[in-house]
Amino acid sequence: MSTSAPSTYAALALIADDMREVDRVIAARLDSSVALVGEVAHYIIRAGGKRLRPALLLLMSGALGYTGAQRFNLAAVVEFIHTATLLHDDVVDASTLRRGRATANERFGNPASVLVGDFLYSRAFQMMVESGDMRVMRILADATNVIAEGEVQQLVNTHDAALTEAGYLEVIRSKTAKLFEASARLAAVLARSPSDVEERCATYGRALGTAFQVIDDALDYEGDVQVMGKNLGDDLREGKMTLPLIVAMQRGTAAQQAMLRRVIEAGSTDELDAVAAVVRDTDAMRATHAAAVAQAQEAVDALSALPANSYTSALLQLATSLLDRTS
Ligand code: IPE
Ligand code: IPE
Ligand code: MG
Ligand code: MG
Ligand code: MG
Repeated sequence: MSTSAPSTYAALALIADDMREVDRVIAARLDSSVALVGEVAHYIIRAGGKRLRPALLLLMSGALGYTGAQRFNLAAVVEFIHTATLLHDDVVDASTLRRGRATANERFGNPASVLVGDFLYSRAFQMMVESGDMRVMRILADATNVIAEGEVQQLVNTHDAALTEAGYLEVIRSKTAKLFEASARLAAVLARSPSDVEERCATYGRALGTAFQVIDDALDYEGDVQVMGKNLGDDLREGKMTLPLIVAMQRGTAAQQAMLRRVIEAGSTDELDAVAAVVRDTDAMRATHAAAVAQAQEAVDALSALPANSYTSALLQLATSLLDRTS
């Protein structure tokens, strides 16, 4: 079920040619003398994916008027970092389906997934060093470190039915929004934008990434497997408290709360239907979507600092279309 970005989001049509260039860089930089590296890396990369983080970097570059070739390299770097996190994430989450096919861990085993993830991280670091720009390196090194920290914090939070919305937001800002933030900020660095504009770009990326993960967590309950290319219920099975459950826990009756607590502490999908019923009963999905809308609005507000052009319009459209995403 791999859908490429331009067909999924009209806003990305503007950068279709640029994205082909990024795909060329990605293909060229997957070289390794060890065949298994190429096999696993091509397996996940050729399955598609939305290429949203490179798209964000390219759109933001366009909005700020930067047209240098370095944008293609850095766009490939953020996609490599993203792909590495996915390889590791599917091992940690014991997931079996991604991008409409068996996950790399399912197909090649956990060791190969973890190690090729490491290869992609380190290839990304080789490429960012080639940029020769210390600020670029700092942004990407910091982002990668924060992503790892977010994943560890999430691990610490598993089976904790008392997790608050603030605790949840802290995790998703780190594990997901940070790379969106870095992608947007890098465009401002390439364009040599003044620091106030750079901060607004970063805010756009952070808010967009936060909205994106909130929707992902909603889709884990209400998505369509065929369209998403991922299984439903992975979060519940791993005992992960995401926003739909946090809201349901706040609003449920004492009996419903006790049931949710038991399921989160056990971590199983056996009672997915019962949990989904409480989520429905408490209207938790509406609150979850409202939280995503608020984040998307924050992203849109940040765009007021950018020049008014077709790229900025596309960024605005992207913030809206991500709210209705189904994959
Ligand atoms: C999946 O990201 C991981 C999350 C942060 C939810 P994407 O939904 O962007 O994955 P692909 O690259 O399109 O497959
Ligand atoms: C994404 O969270 C975390 C990463 C940044 C890798 P999920 O674990 O919810 O992502 P999916 O749903 O497996 O894509
Ligand atoms: Mg996962
Ligand atoms: Mg995960
Ligand atoms: Mg998910």
